[in-house]
Amino acid sequence: MTASEMPKDDEAASRSASNPSTLAGYEGCADDYAETTAPKPDADDQPALVELLKALEPGSRLLEIGSGPGWDADWLKERGLIVRRTDGAESFVQFQAGRGRQAERLDVISDPLGGPYDGVVALHVLQHVEREILPAVFARIAEAIRDGGVFLLALREGEGESVEIGSTGSEYYVALWPRSEIIAALAALGLGLLWSRSFDGREGCWLTALFRKGALR
Ligand SMILES: C[S@@+](CC[C@H](N)C(=O)[O-])C[C@H]1O[C@@H](n2cnc3c(N)ncnc32)[C@H](O)[C@@H]1O
Repeated sequence: MTASEMPKDDEAASRSASNPSTLAGYEGCADDYAETTAPKPDADDQPALVELLKALEPGSRLLEIGSGPGWDADWLKERGLIVRRTDGAESFVQFQAGRGRQAERLDVISDPLGGPYDGVVALHVLQHVEREILPAVFARIAEAIRDGGVFLLALREGEGESVEIGSTGSEYYVALWPRSEIIAALAALGLGLLWSRSFDGREGCWLTALFRKGALR
């Protein structure tokens, strides 16, 4: 996908999109997505990753869900963290292999997550998990984090669901969530909010938030 081909909201689209249709879309666009999202050489504006780094000891072990091209994993590895890179799309696993990074195929909905880890990272991924499935996915993520470990999440903020259509016709499922619901759902699993920020991106509003297991307040 080039920038002009990124998924676009299509109010008229029916609820035919799903996580599998989304993954099928990503299978066809890893190179273009990577090019569109590649870090700028002089850009070091990564507030969420900086917060994550502050919350962990050097050498901490992370699971990254939906690594995509692996740009965030690169940033974290360069700063002393150990990242297990995973993605549900083989295209991204191969993209990372092509630049010498080891990534594994892992579907967050159906595959064992392993662990316990010092932290789990899921940035711009779980909006693609169907609304009714996300609570169970959150529960499995919480189980995969050790006590005192952290969870970094970026999710679409809002209400309802939408279907975004790529230029090749792929249908990307997107669920939007009210901030309060996300924070309450994770609190119920023992994940207390440490830090959060909302920002308007190209596709809409994103909530980025860092949680610590056992740090409820
Ligand atoms: C918008 S991209 C985000 C990639 C990267 N985390 C980033 O922030 O640029 C969404 C990613 O979620 C992955 N994904 C979607 N559904 C998934 C699933 N069920 N299990 C694992 N990864 C999934 C896609 O393959 C894609 O890499």
